[in-house]
Amino acid sequence: MGKHNVRAIDTEDGITAFFSPTESRRFNRRVVRFEVDDCSSIELKRKIMSKDPDLAIVRIPTHRLDIINHLFRVFGNVLLGDCLVMYSIDLEQIQRRTNHPGTGLRVIRANRKHMSDLDHLVRDSFQGYRNHYCHNPSLEQFDLAPAYQEWARSCVVSPDNTCFLFFKDETLCGFFAAQTTGTVYRGLLSGVAHEFRNIGTFRKIIKSIKNAFLADGAHRIVTFVLLENRPVHRVLSSEGFRMGGSFYTAHINLRVPKDT
Ligand SMILES: CC(C)(COP(=O)(O)OP(=O)(O)OC[C@H]1O[C@@H](n2cnc3c(N)ncnc32)[C@H](O)[C@@H]1OP(=O)(O)O)[C@@H](O)C(=O)NCCC(=O)NCCS
Repeated sequence: MGKHNVRAIDTEDGITAFFSPTESRRFNRRVVRFEVDDCSSIELKRKIMSKDPDLAIVRIPTHRLDIINHLFRVFGNVLLGDCLVMYSIDLEQIQRRTNHPGTGLRVIRANRKHMSDLDHLVRDSFQGYRNHYCHNPSLEQFDLAPAYQEWARSCVVSPDNTCFLFFKDETLCGFFAAQTTGTVYRGLLSGVAHEFRNIGTFRKIIKSIKNAFLADGAHRIVTFVLLENRPVHRVLSSEGFRMGGSFYTAHINLRVPKDT
């Protein structure tokens, strides 16, 4: 990447910026991610220009409409991709209040031997799912499943992450992948196979990971969900999670390959 290299994570002026090697490879363009904490529109524009991305993927708190409107004004090709809601749970509070009945699902930590079963489950779970990539016409031919499979696989092999697999009567029915460093664990990706949906499988998965993460030393779980993913909102809010912030994901196409 030569002169375009950026430090792995650059956090200053209330903005976190990092080059995304996976997305850059996937889309064959230089993708840089930006996460806005507290900054001015001018600072964000300056930061984006300084990283020189082809595609900037910017996560902005929904209350910062000033920044969103500024992006639309100053950059030619801006799209809103999705809206995410953050949830978190204080596990120690939960521990004091409840005892933990079994869920009837068998749970194991995935290892390399499970990769092909996990691939199959992830493809099934995310069939028909739409995220922010789907709203950027310059990425429109993109198949989401391999991206989620790659992400889930990376959680199995990374020492910082964990992927739990759930079995109902010996059939793999769901998974939950999380970052498990420190005491605040982050739910990254989860899903339930179609044939096990609407019978409480995801609720059982959430009950199970609360206990497993608490036993593992976590004090809190934080996770993000698409605004329109109503089953997940329903389960999290009734399983002790509290809504935190909400965030838009915007795409800024600064350079689009000629054939798209
Ligand atoms: C979202 C998903 C995990 C839900 O799994 P599930 O096993 O069907 O969920 P459950 O059966 O445990 O619970 C769903 C709850 O939402 C409710 N629900 C279902 N559809 C709903 C809708 N359209 N609106 C509101 N509530 C809805 C159900 O009634 C149930 O609530 P209840 O327990 O109070 O009756 C599953 O559909 C999935 O894998 N989706 C694709 C991937 C995904 O979205 N992953 C999560 C984010 S990464």
